[in-house]
Amino acid sequence: ISRKGSQLVRKHREQKERKKAQHKHWELAGTKLGDIMGIKKTEEEEPGGKAVGEDGKVDYKADQKFADHMKEKSEASSDFAKKKSLLEQRQYLPIFAVRQQLLNIIRDNSIVIVVGETGSGKTTQLTQYLHEDGYTRYGMVGCTQPRRVAAMSVAKRVSEEIGSNLGEEVGYAIRFEDCTSESTMIKYMTDGILLRESLRESDLDHYSAVIMDEAHERSLNTDVLFGLLREVVSRRNDLKLIVTSATMDSDKFAAFFGNVPIFHIPGRTFPVDILFSKTPQEDYVEAAVKQALQIHLSGMVGDILIFMPGQEDIEVTSDQIVERLGELDNAPPLAVLPIYSQLPSDLQAKIFQKAPDGVRKCIVATNIAETSLTVDGIMFVVDSGYCKLKVFNPRIGMDALQVYPISQANANQRSGRAGRTGPGQCYRLYTQSAYKNEMLTTTIPEIQRTNLANVVLLLKSLGVQDLLLFHFMDPPPEDNMLNSMYQLWILGALDNTGESNCLCTCNKKFSVPESDHLTYLNVYNQWKNNNYSSIWCNDHFIHTKAMRKVREVRSQLKDIMVQQKMNLVSCGSDWDVIRKCICAAYFHQAAKLKGIGEYVNVRTGMPCHLHPTSSLFGMGYTPDYIIYHELVMTTKEYMQCVTAVDGEWLAELGPMFYSVKQAGRSRQENRRRAKDEITNMEEEMAMAQEQLRTRREEQ
Ligand code: CDP
Ligand code: MG
Repeated sequence: ISRKGSQLVRKHREQKERKKAQHKHWELAGTKLGDIMGIKKTEEEEPGGKAVGEDGKVDYKADQKFADHMKEKSEASSDFAKKKSLLEQRQYLPIFAVRQQLLNIIRDNSIVIVVGETGSGKTTQLTQYLHEDGYTRYGMVGCTQPRRVAAMSVAKRVSEEIGSNLGEEVGYAIRFEDCTSESTMIKYMTDGILLRESLRESDLDHYSAVIMDEAHERSLNTDVLFGLLREVVSRRNDLKLIVTSATMDSDKFAAFFGNVPIFHIPGRTFPVDILFSKTPQEDYVEAAVKQALQIHLSGMVGDILIFMPGQEDIEVTSDQIVERLGELDNAPPLAVLPIYSQLPSDLQAKIFQKAPDGVRKCIVATNIAETSLTVDGIMFVVDSGYCKLKVFNPRIGMDALQVYPISQANANQRSGRAGRTGPGQCYRLYTQSAYKNEMLTTTIPEIQRTNLANVVLLLKSLGVQDLLLFHFMDPPPEDNMLNSMYQLWILGALDNTGESNCLCTCNKKFSVPESDHLTYLNVYNQWKNNNYSSIWCNDHFIHTKAMRKVREVRSQLKDIMVQQKMNLVSCGSDWDVIRKCICAAYFHQAAKLKGIGEYVNVRTGMPCHLHPTSSLFGMGYTPDYIIYHELVMTTKEYMQCVTAVDGEWLAELGPMFYSVKQAGRSRQENRRRAKDEITNMEEEMAMAQEQLRTRREEQ
């Protein structure tokens, strides 16, 4: 169910574009308590779409009691962090009370599952405890995170707690960014990084302990790591594996690793009032904005956390709150802070900073704030009921990031965030019946819903022969696995040498009408010609940080090429070579012109459109064939990051899909070639399936 067509979102998209330059983050706005957007504190008012009690009534008296209670509590809790030293804060965490028991159980067992409420101290403390207990004397303590933002921000926090500079004793590594050094003992990283490391060093000899954090998230990489690490631990009895989870699924984890012990960290949580919407909300952005303003203007103390599915909704929600508050005089100040994974890290860090005295924080987040990041002082949660999930869509043959209703488990985690430092309230912008009858109990693990091409490639590289027999906790659907193998097979990915003489390039003007990829390249080159200057970036409305990352990625790729002893040759000004290279990897995502700005997928015939941000959009130049990097489904199917290609390249590079009439080669011959290719592939697939059947019978 996509709610992206929300009128408000569309209406403000334009406005947002204009505002982007001004960047309204961490905005203080003034407002007068009163009648804005239909929010009134009069009892006779019809509640309409407002959050209400389970009996369907708005309980303002309860609100008042709650407000008084909050005021009493507020000094104690909101100043907590300010008054206590970092050490005192560490010792106040629930995990501290069980520190020694935890270390004992880890001493006695190779694998332990640790379960504890979000905010109990698992992520920040476990690594330090292991360090203090001597594990870092003979290896690193590694801790994996499903999200980059979490890896970075937690490493920063822990380096502060230990009292060292980030990147020294405590460091982090995420894709294309390694902030560790020789002296690093505690390393936070994304699960993808540990997977890559296991390619180079299958027994993970650098580590004395690995903590797989946030296991309940069941990210694709975590699920693959489960299978791999189970084997590593059986080979290395000096390696400790700790799997942490925020309460769900712990029995399943324990069983998977061979009935290993589960350690529960006693919780310290406060009651949270849960209020459901009386009627379904048509527009969750609008509803969340109203709810946040109502809380803010009610006089109740405490910070607000709003859950939204993605960046766009977050930006609109934040802008709306600031704007409507700005329309009122003398409103109490509110610091509106967005957080999502693509937000630059200095802005991300702001959610953890103290707001100035007397200023309430209102954090607008994706489900990143569900369990990965803990912000203290949240008393109110506003839950849109949606999140974005990457889901493999067999109709289009690839993953699409779409908005979906959350699961009950998500909903409960979200509401829990309001009860960490004191009693709280959670406003669910969906009905109780939707919660009970429409939401899944838990989210389907990523491995069962996404494209597995990368996983297949990785496992193959690790020498795993029988992919269909790999030990997964929840095996992916066989069809998905076979599809991914098929995709890799058509790409010839397993022995792709990737050499087409195009490492260095020349420069032209920004927008290259036939290609978004080349447009990016063009930007990069111009930046390079301007000595990688940040002033140049600012002048051209380009994110310096993003450009620096590009430069880093480029140099890493270059290192890999040097390592692999590949020739570094430039294609000079012949950018067609680059387009052809891109075509070689993406020919299975090709589209053919049908009308103005309208394309159809060459293989499936499905209509798809140029994204308005594409340099091909509205240029009057519409090539007959294009390939696209990504298909995004919002109001319709949009192709993002597009490059024009020759129809003949498609036939040359993807003969199993396409053929052209050619002089010197008959149509029959083309057909025969395509048929041969397909027969080969089918034989390989049939063999794989046959092997699987035999193995199963043997078992
Ligand atoms: O992993 P778990 O959810 O159990 O807790 P944690 O992430 O270790 O958080 C423990 C405490 O550290 C919380 O009170 C957080 O507010 C604090 N923390 C922080 O202040 N800054 C961070 N970047 C991360 C955690
Ligand atoms: Mg954590």
